[in-house]
Amino acid sequence: MNVRNFSIIAHVDHGKSTLADRILEKLGAMGERDKRDQTLDTLELERERGITIKSTPIRLNYTRPNGDTYVLNLIDTPGHVDFNYEVSRSLAACEGVLLLVDASQGVEAQTIVNAYLAIDSNLEIVPVVNKIDLPAADPEGAAQELEDVIGIPAEDAIFASGKSGIGIDDILEAVVERIPPPPGDPQAPLKALIFDSFYDAYQGVILFVRVLEGTIRAKDEMMLYHTGKSFGVDKVGTFSPGLIVGQSLQAGEVGWVAASIKDIHDAQVGDTITLKGNPTQEPFPGFKPAQPVVFSGLYPTNTEEYRKLREALEKLKLNDAAFTFEPETSEALGFGFRCGFLGLLHAEIIQERLEREYDLDLIATAPAVVYRLTLTNGEVFETQNPAEFPTRDRIEVIEEPYIKLSVMLPEEHVGPVMQLLQERRGVMQTMNYVGKRVELIYEVPFAEILYDFHDRLKSISRGYASMDYEIIGYREGDLVKVDIYVNQEIVDALAVIVHEDRAYGLGRKIVDRMADVIPRQMWAVPVQAAIGGKIIARATVKAFRKDVLAKCYGGDISRKKKLLDKQKKGKARMKQIGTVEVPQEAFLAVLSTD
Ligand code: GTP
Repeated sequence: MNVRNFSIIAHVDHGKSTLADRILEKLGAMGERDKRDQTLDTLELERERGITIKSTPIRLNYTRPNGDTYVLNLIDTPGHVDFNYEVSRSLAACEGVLLLVDASQGVEAQTIVNAYLAIDSNLEIVPVVNKIDLPAADPEGAAQELEDVIGIPAEDAIFASGKSGIGIDDILEAVVERIPPPPGDPQAPLKALIFDSFYDAYQGVILFVRVLEGTIRAKDEMMLYHTGKSFGVDKVGTFSPGLIVGQSLQAGEVGWVAASIKDIHDAQVGDTITLKGNPTQEPFPGFKPAQPVVFSGLYPTNTEEYRKLREALEKLKLNDAAFTFEPETSEALGFGFRCGFLGLLHAEIIQERLEREYDLDLIATAPAVVYRLTLTNGEVFETQNPAEFPTRDRIEVIEEPYIKLSVMLPEEHVGPVMQLLQERRGVMQTMNYVGKRVELIYEVPFAEILYDFHDRLKSISRGYASMDYEIIGYREGDLVKVDIYVNQEIVDALAVIVHEDRAYGLGRKIVDRMADVIPRQMWAVPVQAAIGGKIIARATVKAFRKDVLAKCYGGDISRKKKLLDKQKKGKARMKQIGTVEVPQEAFLAVLSTD
């Protein structure tokens, strides 16, 4: 059997899904994709937001013009930095990639990062300049950028359009000709890489695997290299694109394995499967369990929904090894959960799913990173919860995570963007010119890009800047905790950790924003920001109750009802703190852009 395993990588919106659809259609697999959507329960959110969250492979039959037949496994990759680890695992299941670049945009931050992920995995890169049908397309320019920035010869680029179908035949031929066939010996001890998984209520965890060496069959006793746990294999098969049951999967093949695994944490992405009786000596390198890096508290607005929330979180976790949660109690918010995510997008997706699929009303607290504290008594501990911070006199050193941030932008916006990065405590590493554009590499505290950074970057570059990042380690920082008081009461769930120099500005911003969003009361309500008990900013929610009914002169009952309903709805995401109702926006005041 002639096999090619490949993936498509690109900057967000450069047309990956459209091109993949076009390839599927060409190879007669259209409609099949819809079937797959149902089989694999592709998230509704994914479709709505137009981003790819889960990597889902697909097996295609391709007959070359000369009559030779090939099996092409197209392995989809998520398109967002939150899921970069999943991207690199998916790439490890391939021998080559199509690197897409939008002909009207050229090389962007994620084009570079993804290209280097592919280079690091020793993959053959087939450059594709996409969207050449656009009036603003400059295919030669984009190809030249690939050569200048990444070192891929411009003449290797295939010009294509996923939309109009130009270049698809050339792409398929390039996949067969340029991407090498998978290596591996079907007789060797089994070595298979898990590059994705999902939870099925009947069969347990379905593992997406790439067999690197050996063969796996139903009834084999398989073992997970890193957890050491073993399971009897129930079924194996391929994606066509639904789950097709087969006899075996051998070296070079991509497929799925079901082994009645009940907990997704027993078989995580990046782990190696081998056979218990004849284990491989070298697992696939670089395994790291999925680790959340951004944390936030989730509380039901209605305390009676606590159990319902717990059940929903448990269900979501079944399918998402990177998501964590544990019970947390807040004086202000009551009982809730501290949840861990891969990044802000991941957090938003989970929260949205909880509200939509489980019909929960939630209050989310501002996202925070994991801080490492050394106390004056020598004790070291990590916390991501500002409410848990000890008082300043007990802390010797605070360290915070840093990222290497890469920003790609047109030359004319470099000044303001550098200023923004400096405000965010960024330190410039390099600056590369790419034609009329610039790539900036900075080291920045991770926390500084959690709050409104992306929005600011987009607005000061008129939407032209793109970014990507990776976490590089911990560094010491002069950080302080800013407490927020509402009506003289401290609200633990509103505390934020911030650099000393930014504490006053941020405190100001938070209280102003809160005073804006907290509904007016019968009396004036002070909102204050403080460091160690010392007030640094203050704002007031003015007294006055907005009486919506006053507007309805006289007796139109239905209109009155409508207004009351409207008011009730607006109240849904509120939390009573003392005598004051605080809306969700107030808890995210720190995220608001001015
Ligand atoms: P992510 O999954 O978020 O990474 O996005 P993507 O790279 O899969 O992009 P997608 O295929 O969703 O396309 C993004 C936008 O570009 C959509 O509005 C498409 O209609 C448009 N688009 C994609 N391919 C082409 C093309 O060849 N020509 C033109 N003119 N538009 C295209």
